[in-house]
Amino acid sequence: MRSLDDFQEITLRDEPLAPFTWLKLGGPAQYLISPRTVDELVEVVRCCHDLQVPIRILGGGSNILVRDEGVSGAVVRLSGEAFARIEIDGCRVTAGAGALLSNLISQTVKADLAGLDTLVGIPGTVGGALRGNAGGRSGDIGQHVSSVRVLTPLGELLVRHEDELSFAYRHSNLSEMTILDATFDLIPDSPEEINRRMRKIWIMKKATQPLTFQSAGCIFKNPRGMSAGLLIDQAGLKGTRVGNAEISDRHANFIVAHPTASAQDVLRLIDLARSKVNEQFAVDLELEIQIW
Ligand code: EPU
Repeated sequence: MRSLDDFQEITLRDEPLAPFTWLKLGGPAQYLISPRTVDELVEVVRCCHDLQVPIRILGGGSNILVRDEGVSGAVVRLSGEAFARIEIDGCRVTAGAGALLSNLISQTVKADLAGLDTLVGIPGTVGGALRGNAGGRSGDIGQHVSSVRVLTPLGELLVRHEDELSFAYRHSNLSEMTILDATFDLIPDSPEEINRRMRKIWIMKKATQPLTFQSAGCIFKNPRGMSAGLLIDQAGLKGTRVGNAEISDRHANFIVAHPTASAQDVLRLIDLARSKVNEQFAVDLELEIQIW
């Protein structure tokens, strides 16, 4: 049977994950594996399956909190060129899971294609955005997808077409899969219109979100018909600190990590926000970020 030692050339052992995350916190990955090709990725996924080694895919690191003790098993980074291709053919755009969402947005906007422009300002990779159906008030990524190529946990390559895909608020049915790439159907629009929309979204984000601090974006999903930020704010928690992590005084659904904060500080703030909101409003906040 193969072992993870067969992937030495592309594997780092006990590699700190903090530099790969927006919060810049947390411990190492037991194995950090960076496949160079799809074939190499297939081999890694199959090997992890056979050895029953848990596997996690690291995207842009903008929606995760890595615990201080780190992650056992394999963390896979799709950072190579093979995973970052963006191809535009008329209104049809294909993007690799490892491409930055911001890059995909700017390339489609340059081609006068509308749809993904409403995601402006959302960090991370295309794969991460698809898995969690990233979006905002003006729409989400799922509504523009026509197909997604994935690897199953057994390493089989499948194409999931529109009728097999399900996207809901910050949710997709792709979470068990390794996403390879996705095809989007976009709509031609005038550059003036596209830029006007993007400017508006940027201005709103800059005015309401702590974009210059280390954070993982919104920590909790909005409960149906409510705003998690508003509830945490009304619970009086803005500016509350545990260690060197703080509930943002600009937007209460953001936790900012000041220098020397630990993942444990953030976890304690998450627990505090959850319990205060539950006590005061009888609402259970559900995490939007992934905790590793
Ligand atoms: N509000 C407060 N206090 C706060 C935060 C918000 O009173 O501390 C109020 C606002 O004044 C507003 C309402 O709550 O009346 C909603 O707030 P906001 O407009 O900031 O939107 P949100 O629901 O908190 C959502 C997404 C954001 C996305 C924005 C804009 C979620 C959990 N959050 O925020 O997504 O950028 O809309 O489209 O769905 C993310 O997912 O990481 C994220 C930042």
